[in-house]
Amino acid sequence: MKKRFIIERFNPKKDKKPYWQTYEVECEKDWTVLDALEAIRAQDPTLAYRRICRHGICGACAMNINGSNHLACETRIVNFKNDIKIRPLPGFPIIRDLVVDLERFLKNYTYIKPYLITSSFPQREYFQSPKERQLLDGLYECILCGSCTSACATFWANKEFLGPAGFLQACRFILDSRDEGLSLRKDMIKKSSIWQCHGILNCVEACPKGLNPFKAIAHLRKIVLFGGK
Ligand code: SF4
Ligand code: FES
Repeated sequence: MKKRFIIERFNPKKDKKPYWQTYEVECEKDWTVLDALEAIRAQDPTLAYRRICRHGICGACAMNINGSNHLACETRIVNFKNDIKIRPLPGFPIIRDLVVDLERFLKNYTYIKPYLITSSFPQREYFQSPKERQLLDGLYECILCGSCTSACATFWANKEFLGPAGFLQACRFILDSRDEGLSLRKDMIKKSSIWQCHGILNCVEACPKGLNPFKAIAHLRKIVLFGGK
């Protein structure tokens, strides 16, 4: 089946502004958008995009497809009747074509200290009951693709705002029964403009893993206001 892909191109070294380029591709009907991009790159090796795992695990191939953020490797082309328009993730500076600069996103991730904070060095594995482990469901699955944060207008407008993925990850470590960094983490959250989230829920809609960063933000607000975990 023949399909038309309209892709935003931009090479800051030679282009004054982004422009659209159209490619016609003969596709198999079970192809993903990433398969089509690979076919396009075989015709035009100048097209830049990221991909690593091709199985929805690494998060590298997140991009904006027909107006919504998706993982290209998990998005089937049969889902789209007409042309497929592809842009880089909105809200991040473009490095080239579909490759964006995730520096702020990753800096915010490291800010929340994405590891267990403990008072002593463990001699063997930490124990966790199945019930304690269950508290991390809906949080640990985040693959850091950036789709939620790219869809968040508060993240675009407020440089202090940690972003949906940052708060989700902060919640993941606070709720971990093995972590002892609650008071430090609470202080960090208070300084991260958590009250600036307006609950528009674009992040929930954008997450390819079906996670709910807003639920994590609401939970963190409760901890900040009333204590507890
Ligand atoms: S919460 Fe979802 S959309 Fe956001 S970075 Fe994690 S996996 Fe991606
Ligand atoms: S290439 Fe890894 S998630 Fe798509």
